[in-house]
Amino acid sequence: MKNLYIVANWKANMTQIEANNWLSELQIKNYNLSNKEIIICPPYHLLYPVHQQVMQMQLPLSLGSQDVSQYGRGAYTGEQPASLLSEYIKFCIVGHSERREKFHETDTIIAEKASLASASNLLPILCVQGADTSVPKNVKFVAYEPVFAIGSGTSDTPENAEIVAKEVRGKDKDIMYVLYGGSVTAENVASFTKMEHINGVLVGKASLDPQEFSAIIQNA
Ligand code: PGA
Repeated sequence: MKNLYIVANWKANMTQIEANNWLSELQIKNYNLSNKEIIICPPYHLLYPVHQQVMQMQLPLSLGSQDVSQYGRGAYTGEQPASLLSEYIKFCIVGHSERREKFHETDTIIAEKASLASASNLLPILCVQGADTSVPKNVKFVAYEPVFAIGSGTSDTPENAEIVAKEVRGKDKDIMYVLYGGSVTAENVASFTKMEHINGVLVGKASLDPQEFSAIIQNA
């Protein structure tokens, strides 16, 4: 069985109480997760409390951030450097299309972020909008996220996502896993994860509901 990575991107949502309830309502205790890694990406203010609760409840979850600084430690007010985040988390999303569009992140900035993340032993999940988006060296995880599918309720077709995933994998031997993201639900997840070159999903809106996200994990 191939490895599957199922990522919840909560974006700018959830209070501490809501996150607490979400973790209590996740129903994965009886699932076979032997080939699945579940990665929760809460907003920064929740990384530590979610980390604590995951440890306390002994939940089989990894943590990631939704972004990371392009700088290291130092006089960078408001920034979140990889070397500090790596205390609690294993992954970080880098280059999400919302960062590219709304925060003007370029391929150069994104490459700096990915490089600093790797230097601190974080695994960057680099988001691309198609096979022609540049992927920096040493990136193992790429998420194909076509802009039209994000938050629209209309996903790409699994067949097209497979074509892009295969092409992305062929670009560089460092790229080991390609995930699909964009309007993934419990209903359509298996149509993506059954594709040969797709190793998981990045889930936005549907990850906010613990029942729906549990069903995504089960159906993947
Ligand atoms: P969506 O978001 O699942 O709400 O479409 C995916 C993403 O932005 O990563």
